[in-house]
Parts: sequence; structure tokens; C-alpha cells
Amino acid sequence: MADTPAKVALITGAARGIGLATAHLMAADGWRVALLDRDEDALKEAAAQFDGAALSLLHDVSDPQAAPQAIRECVTHFGRLDALVNNAGVADFGPIEETDFARWRRVMETNLDGVFLMSQAAIPALKETKGAIVNIASISGLRASTLRVAYGTSKSAVIQLTQQQAAELGEYGIRANAVCPGPVRTKLAMAVHTQDIIDAYHDAIPLNRYGSEREIGEVIAFLCSPKASYVTGQIIAADGGFQSTGVGLPALRTL
Ligand SMILES: NC(=O)c1ccc[n+]([C@@H]2O[C@H](COP(=O)([O-])OP(=O)(O)OC[C@H]3O[C@@H](n4cnc5c(N)ncnc54)[C@H](O)[C@@H]3O)[C@@H](O)[C@H]2O)c1
Repeated sequence: MADTPAKVALITGAARGIGLATAHLMAADGWRVALLDRDEDALKEAAAQFDGAALSLLHDVSDPQAAPQAIRECVTHFGRLDALVNNAGVADFGPIEETDFARWRRVMETNLDGVFLMSQAAIPALKETKGAIVNIASISGLRASTLRVAYGTSKSAVIQLTQQQAAELGEYGIRANAVCPGPVRTKLAMAVHTQDIIDAYHDAIPLNRYGSEREIGEVIAFLCSPKASYVTGQIIAADGGFQSTGVGLPALRTL
């Protein structure tokens, strides 16, 4: 019997951070990976870590022309698409009164428009494979907090978009789920996490620490895999317990 070709995942924002860690985990699990990013130098460096096996896609997910082109390049190269991981994201924290429309749009065009555009363009290819979409939202999309008017709103919309996708695309066998990471020390987070924010996170997280890129990637890889074949429309926080907790943690800690 002919071998089934290895599954293919396209991961956006894969040049570093959570996206790159996810690509490594999935490649180690036997997936072929397409790395999409708009940062050319970082993308080259990332692709070099895969010994020529990864496809580099230099695109900006907020550009409406980019999505169909990126999907076409991926399917032309690998012959199929089994999973789309919408991970590319930007963070910009600021008070509501100082968030002008340009700043609001900069966040929305990547974090929300990009997820919509990439997913829509991927539907024909995902229909063929009964594939999966995994959208990366955030705990900031689950619970409101100061300074996140654009970021938190974009991530909350990604959660709703995921559920819309699950509802409509289920009849094609396409699954759609979202992962809400807690804080991870990536370039994105460290640009906006002041010491006050870092301390506040520790106070609100039962596991009392930041997560790692790999810990988020493991959840993403699971949701892409056939192990999650009956899981769709779910919003899964990988957050050290942040979402489940109310007040009182620091007062009760004994260590
Ligand atoms: N790090 C955290 O604490 C944290 C927490 C919750 C959610 N997230 C989410 O996880 C995802 C990954 O974040 P990260 O922390 O690894 O960030 P990161 O900054 O390390 O990586 C993000 C990557 O996305 C790319 N990118 C950004 N905008 C793009 C666009 N328009 N088109 C193509 N590529 C683009 C960047 O060039 C970069 O390589 C994001 O969606 C982020 O919002 C991160």
C-alpha cells in the first residue's frame, strides 16, 4: 500500500516565538510545515532551522491579496493543506483615550482581519483534507484588563470568529478551535509587559509563572492532530490557571 503523504501545516507568524515553537513541535511529529511571516530576516533564520524541509512564505496576513497567494503557494509546493494555525499577532497596549484610529486598525488588521482572510482563503484546501483551523487568541480576549482596548477586543473577536467557523465549516469536516495563551516571554509580550504587569500576572496565575512557547505549541499541535478529531468550536486557555481564578491567590500562598 502506498504511504499516505505527511500532513501539511501552514503556521502564520512562524518566524519566532509561539509560531516557531509550534512549527518545530509539529515537524517533530511528522508534519510538513509552511512558515509564513512578514519579517524577512527572521523568516530566513527560522527556515534555516528546518534543513530545507520547511516552505517559507513571506507575506503580511493583513494584506487581502496575500492570503489566497500564500495558500496557493503552499498547496502548489506540498500538494495539500491539513492545518492552518493563525498565530501572527501584534500587541499594542494603551489607554482608550490615547488609542487613535490608526493604532486601533494596526492591531485589528493583523489580529482579526488576518485570521478572517487566511481562514477564508484556506477553506477549499481544508475541505479536501477535512482539515483544521487553530486560531491563537489570548487570555486578554477572555477577560478585560486595562490598556488592552484594541488588543483585547481583537482577541475576543477571534474567539467569536472561531465559533462562527466551527458552526459553518463543520459540515465539510473542518474543525476550528482557539487557544488562549497566558503570558509567555516572547518579543511581543516583553515589548508591552512592564514590571508592574509581570508582577500582576504572577499574582493572578495559580502556577505562579509565565508559560513557555512550547507549552502553548503542544496545545496547538494537539488541536491540529487527529487526536482532536471530535473537538471543534472550543476555546482552550493554556494559561497556568489565570482564567479559572478569582481574587485571593497571593494572600493564600504559603511559598
Ligand atoms: N506572548 C504572549 O504572552 C502571548 C499571550 C497571549 C497571546 N499571544 C498571541 O500569540 C501569538 C504569537 O505571539 P508571540 O508572543 O509568539 O509573538 P512574536 O512577536 O514573538 O511573534 C509574532 C510573529 O508574527 C509575525 N507577524 C506579526 N504581524 C504579522 C503580519 N501582519 N503578517 C505576518 N506575520 C506577522 C511577526 O513578524 C512575528 O514573527 C500572537 O497572536 C499573540 O497575540 C501571545
